Amino acid sequence: MSETTPEQRPVGIDAATAILRQNDRGGYTIPTDGLYPFQWSWDSAITGLGWLTIDEKRAWQEAETMFRGQWDNGMVPHILFHKGAESYFPGPDVWGSGTKIPSSAISQPPVWATTIRFMYEKCRDQSLAAEKLRALLPKLMAYHEWWYRERDPGDTGLVCSYHPWESGMDNSPAWDKPLGVVPGVSWEYKRRDLGHVDPEQRPHKPEYDRYLYLVDFYKDHGFDSQYIYDNCPYKVIDVGIVSILQRAGNDLIELCCIADYEDGVEALQAELERTRSAINKLWSSEHHCFFNHDLITGQALDEVTSATVLPLFGGLADKKQAAAMADLIGAWLDATKVGLSSTHPSSPRYESQRYWRGPVWIHINWMIALGAADYGYSEIAQRLQDSARDCVTAAGFWEYFDADTGGGCGGDDFSWTAATTLFWLSNPA
Ligand code: GLC
Repeated sequence: MSETTPEQRPVGIDAATAILRQNDRGGYTIPTDGLYPFQWSWDSAITGLGWLTIDEKRAWQEAETMFRGQWDNGMVPHILFHKGAESYFPGPDVWGSGTKIPSSAISQPPVWATTIRFMYEKCRDQSLAAEKLRALLPKLMAYHEWWYRERDPGDTGLVCSYHPWESGMDNSPAWDKPLGVVPGVSWEYKRRDLGHVDPEQRPHKPEYDRYLYLVDFYKDHGFDSQYIYDNCPYKVIDVGIVSILQRAGNDLIELCCIADYEDGVEALQAELERTRSAINKLWSSEHHCFFNHDLITGQALDEVTSATVLPLFGGLADKKQAAAMADLIGAWLDATKVGLSSTHPSSPRYESQRYWRGPVWIHINWMIALGAADYGYSEIAQRLQDSARDCVTAAGFWEYFDADTGGGCGGDDFSWTAATTLFWLSNPA
């Protein structure tokens, strides 16, 4: 937990700009030094929005570098290990992907087409934007096709996820049950995260053993997508991924129209329609949100987390569902000191400081605010923005914030917190 006072930590555009520059490794931005020394996919997408306000060419470069690590099958890995770093575990040798740019073997919430649409629309240099967009479109399309082909081979309309890390919400209590049946590795390893951050804020060892089992599983089976789909001991429908993929898919279609790009558009429209029809299966009329699902047991994962209201961001809720979620969010904001916590505070598994079990992440609040505004709930959007701003103003650019106190947690000088400050918090809702 940070000991700093607001006076010691100047917050604002200059400080946020300085963080992006400090975390810049030449063409890509690390989330924070030490704890996360590589390029993470959704961090990088969000960070690009921050760069856009400082240096437009640099913003496009963030995306270009990430897509250079795209796999031949279209997947954009969740981590690109551009250089070696002793401060991080598990590194490229554990993942064993064997790709030209060493990488992990899973993806992350596919927010790229959404951030690229913002970049295109807000870029002052429109000829730069048009040129960069043109080059990125086939790659974005291949990425979206990968999700539907590999993660929903049965065309159910709901893609699946094979690892809690893929959700970006690594330690969410929503994953406790499905992860709980995954065996743990028995080999010895040394975690590096605990040397950077208070262990009270990080996942426990049994969870880590299971995370690593899954990493071994993909490698031991040669990353064979059909085998993994049929046999992976962890297979969930993650509402966060489904919602983010849906919004990004709509944004991608819009970008294709702008650039007169037709390849894959019709098929993508059909996928979006399939998801719209399927999403109701996840709705909980009792809890007023969309639950994640365990595809192995067939059961709903009935934990109210910030992901379960992300269908607002994906435009996937009907009017009644949106109204119910707006009420839920309003009461939820009343129940914590700051922001929308990653897990609902009434959950017995809520912990205000532990990774994804309670703390507030600013970029998630941004996504929910965008979704709420789209459905006409501008007061909710404003509350989310004000509260996120309060976190940063009081504590600084932390990875995440204690929902009960607003104190900064995790890594300091964090890129996506700086970027959302530049792109979102320094602007009116
Ligand atoms: C953690 C977070 C994930 C993020 C990464 C880098 O693993 O859970 O969402 O992308 O750190 O910041």
